[in-house]
Amino acid sequence: MSLKTLILAAGKGTRMKSELPKVLHKVCGVPMVQKIVNTCSKIGSIENILILGHKKEEVLKVLPDMEYVIQEEQLGTGHAVIQAKEKLKDFDGTVMILCGDTPLLREETLKELYDYHKKTAAITTILTSIYENPFGYGRIVKKDGNVIGIVEEKEASEEVKAIKEVNAGVYCFEAKELLSALDRIDNRNEKGEYYLTDVIAINVNDGKKVEAFLLEDNDEILGINSKIELEKANCIMKNRINEKHMENGVIFIDKNSVYIEESVQIGQDTVVYPGALLQGDTVIGQNCEILGNTRIIDCKVGNDVRVESSVLEESIVEDRVTIGPFAHLRPKSHLKEEVHIGNFVEVKKSVLEKGVKAGHLTYLGDAIVGEKTNIGAGTITCNYDGKNKFKTTIGKNAFIGSDTMLVAPVNIGENALVGAGSVITKDVPENALAVSRSKQVIKFDWRK
Ligand code: UD1
Ligand code: CA
Repeated sequence: MSLKTLILAAGKGTRMKSELPKVLHKVCGVPMVQKIVNTCSKIGSIENILILGHKKEEVLKVLPDMEYVIQEEQLGTGHAVIQAKEKLKDFDGTVMILCGDTPLLREETLKELYDYHKKTAAITTILTSIYENPFGYGRIVKKDGNVIGIVEEKEASEEVKAIKEVNAGVYCFEAKELLSALDRIDNRNEKGEYYLTDVIAINVNDGKKVEAFLLEDNDEILGINSKIELEKANCIMKNRINEKHMENGVIFIDKNSVYIEESVQIGQDTVVYPGALLQGDTVIGQNCEILGNTRIIDCKVGNDVRVESSVLEESIVEDRVTIGPFAHLRPKSHLKEEVHIGNFVEVKKSVLEKGVKAGHLTYLGDAIVGEKTNIGAGTITCNYDGKNKFKTTIGKNAFIGSDTMLVAPVNIGENALVGAGSVITKDVPENALAVSRSKQVIKFDWRK
């Protein structure tokens, strides 16, 4: 296949009203331009080239390995393509041009567009779709059923404005013809820009074959120019993602109220309740229950896990664990099988071995807790002295009484018992009882 893609991403995106370059705004967790690049990388092109300009360093941080050319001044989409002249001048194939702000395009659509372009032996093929309200898009102007040009909103007469077939901003061009036509575009229009779309009329005047490839699903070509369109794109993408999960056997109570990023994987028969937020590199096993107000990011969660109203970050949760309500797993925590952490329990960089229970109001940081140990309500590992962090290790089958302060570094032996309300500063040997609190005093009849 002799195909290159060119992705226009140099514009500022003024209508977005943002410090962030438009193409870096995220749709379901993925920056728009990255999404387009990912799609382009699956269609068999030999090279994918980005056109960068406004805040190019920021875009390159997201896509450090991309081929790119710079458009110093953003003088229009046609001007942007001209910047890639060097990369195209000896190329005798097809250039697919896309905009960095149409993240919903599917791989299949791009392949179909290319196939259609080849099949019809056109010089130029435009991807189009129909919008009931086509405001803002370039209109496809036809005569006797043939494309004769694209007219931008700003230059459109009332008659042209009534045309509902719009330019998706995606095209296949034969490289040689494209460069020849680009030499002849100018900026004598309302915006004073060099429009890529003017190439079409030049092709037609040259007597070349121009085709329009009409796409049924107009959602796919949505161009994101504003925060309103960004929200629209997020909703469409969210729906696509959630439907894919349902096809794979995941259960949603209300698919509209669940936000799941593209990268997340979920096993079958897991139920996701309204208000769940699943992000990043998260993998969730089968048969889990993810209840409302739960946020899980970059976690690996096993099977039969139940999480209620909790936040889980960069952690591993094994099978049959129960979490919450109102628990917080901070990075590098590892809850092994059948662990339970309950109300207001925070765990950071700690390993809780199989069957550990910490039901209430507890902080476990930099700790290793042995199998089946019970952590009483209000237990705190005092891991920080203001400068350094220290470790707490607790053996298996231990019982830490309520309201215990474990002042790290400290070790509690296997099967040891710590009395409620203790402040533990010295190691407790296995099987021992440690109590460290002032003795209770009784003064009879004191209140009389
Ligand atoms: C463009 C099309 C319009 C089409 C619509 C589809 C032109 C003149 N118009 O309009 O027909 O219906 O897309 O979404 O092409 N860019 C640069 N350099 C520039 C200007 C823009 O790289 O100098 C990039 C932008 O970063 C963006 C893309 O090109 O990713 C499109 O630019 P934008 O200003 O959004 O064009 P539209 O007005 O939406
Ligand atoms: Ca646009």
